[in-house]
This record gives sequence, C-alpha cells and structure tokens, in this order.
Amino acid sequence: MKDSKYVKNYFKRKGTVSKWWNPTDDDCKHIYIREIEIISSFLKRDNHLNRKKALELSVGKGRLALPIHNLFQEYLGTDISEEMLQITWRKDKKLNLSYADAENLESIKDDYYDYVFCLAALVHYPHPENAIQEISRVLKEKGTAIVSLDNKYSLKRIIKDSINKRYLKNKEGFEPQGDHIFQIYPKKELKKMFIKYNLKIQKIINLGMLIPIKYQTSNQKNKYFLFSPKTGYRLRYLSVVLDQIPIVNKLSTYNIYILKKISFN
Ligand SMILES: C[S@@+](CC[C@H](N)C(=O)[O-])C[C@H]1O[C@@H](n2cnc3c(N)ncnc32)[C@H](O)[C@@H]1O
Repeated sequence: MKDSKYVKNYFKRKGTVSKWWNPTDDDCKHIYIREIEIISSFLKRDNHLNRKKALELSVGKGRLALPIHNLFQEYLGTDISEEMLQITWRKDKKLNLSYADAENLESIKDDYYDYVFCLAALVHYPHPENAIQEISRVLKEKGTAIVSLDNKYSLKRIIKDSINKRYLKNKEGFEPQGDHIFQIYPKKELKKMFIKYNLKIQKIINLGMLIPIKYQTSNQKNKYFLFSPKTGYRLRYLSVVLDQIPIVNKLSTYNIYILKKISFN
C-alpha cells in the first residue's frame, strides 16, 4: 500500500473506486449477497432494533445500508468518497449519508451508537488501528461492531500471491493490480488491535471458500484460475457447506468479525 495521502486522495477522486467496486454485478455477487443475509439474520435476533442507532463506515454503493437502514431508529452511512455517497443517495434519498474519513470521526460523539458496520473497507485504510479506535469510541458500552475483511491466508490469496510472485520475478515493473490501495492483516494482528480498543471478538464467520480467482498476467490481461465465474456460481451451495467445516474454512476468502465493546472498569 502507498502512503496515507496517496490512498485517501485516490478514494476521494471521482472515477476510481466507483469503477471497480460493483458488488451487485460482480463475479462474486452471490458471496456479497450471502454476507448481507448473514448480517441481516444476526440483526433479527435483536428485538429492539427500532430503538437503536447505527453507523456505517465506508457505505460504498449501499450494499448493506439500503436493505437495513429502515430497521433502525437512526442510521448514518458515511464514506470518504463523495461520488459513492451520491450514487447511494440516488438509490434512496431517505438514507442519511455524510462524508467521513473512517480514521477520524471527529463530528461523532463518544458512546453514541449501538451498532457500527464496516464491510470490505478496513483493507483500504492506511492506518486501520485509528479506525478501530474510532469504532470503539463512538460505540456505546456493550454495543456491537460488525467488520468484514479479506482473510490473509485464504485459498484465493495463497493462489494469487504465488501467481503474482512468478510475474514479479519474470517482469520488471510488474505491480499486482490494487496493491497500491490495499493491505491485508493477519488475524493475529487484527485480534490484537480489537482487544487494544476494548472490542471483544464474539464470533468470526468464514465466508466464500470457493470463489473465482481472478488474476492479472504481466500484460495486465484478466484470467481465472481453476474455474470461471459461471462455475463459481454453480458451486455456491458447496461453498456455503465448506464455509461451515472447521479447519477447512480457515481458507475462506472473507472473515466477518462480530465484536462487542466491553469495559475493563
Ligand atoms: C470495497 S468498497 C466497500 C463498500 C461497502 N462497504 C461494501 O461492502 O459494499 C470500499 C469503500 O471504502 C471507502 N473508503 C476508502 N477509504 C476510506 C476512508 N479512509 N474512510 C472512509 N471510507 C473509505 C471507499 O470510498 C469505498 O466506498
């Protein structure tokens, strides 16, 4: 990942993330849909949602906010990209949206929200620890944070990294696509950051064992390893089954962390 200024300016610029982040029209759209189903069914267990306040960091194109914001008394979706906020706002003008850098939520009071959501975005923050600290600060005691991100040791990553290594060795100047704005953290490191800021891991849900693995050749052509998106879609139920199998599911593509803010006092 490049330096903080570069990365933040990248996301603030028009025509960057909006071009490549299309979760409802992606090779892995069924995985993204499943993620929302998992979160929605988790939320259903809370009978008092209509009295609760929720904040979403990096709302993107509204994949989570659009289906769930009405369940809450108050919902605020935020993002560093004004363009992404505009796209989401056009889909539902009643959704409350605001610009915010997840690493600095200065306009938000301490201990205000019952829920904080942050999906597929922590990997794009140059200093994720700052965002985790902010999540904890704005959450009420016993509040819940749901954070999802790429698993550093997924089958997808292991295969992609070994393909990239081959190209890196053979072609000078080859840069794997996305590496300038993307950084994955090992589970151990993430756990340390969560604990440091009083966020206790209640559950880790593994998601997406079998997904089409896209990689770039040295002349920037997109190719798929093992199977195509079509086959990946056909294998979606098998993927869900594999996601449930302990040890095997350590290789899943994404991890959803359910965190609770605890107090040590
Ligand atoms: C891969 S998209 C995920 C969007 C959405 N959470 C989802 O899962 O569909 C990453 C999002 O993070 C936002 N983002 C990147 N850096 C950010 C930052 N420092 N603060 C807030 N949002 C940021 C981007 O603008 C983009 O909307």
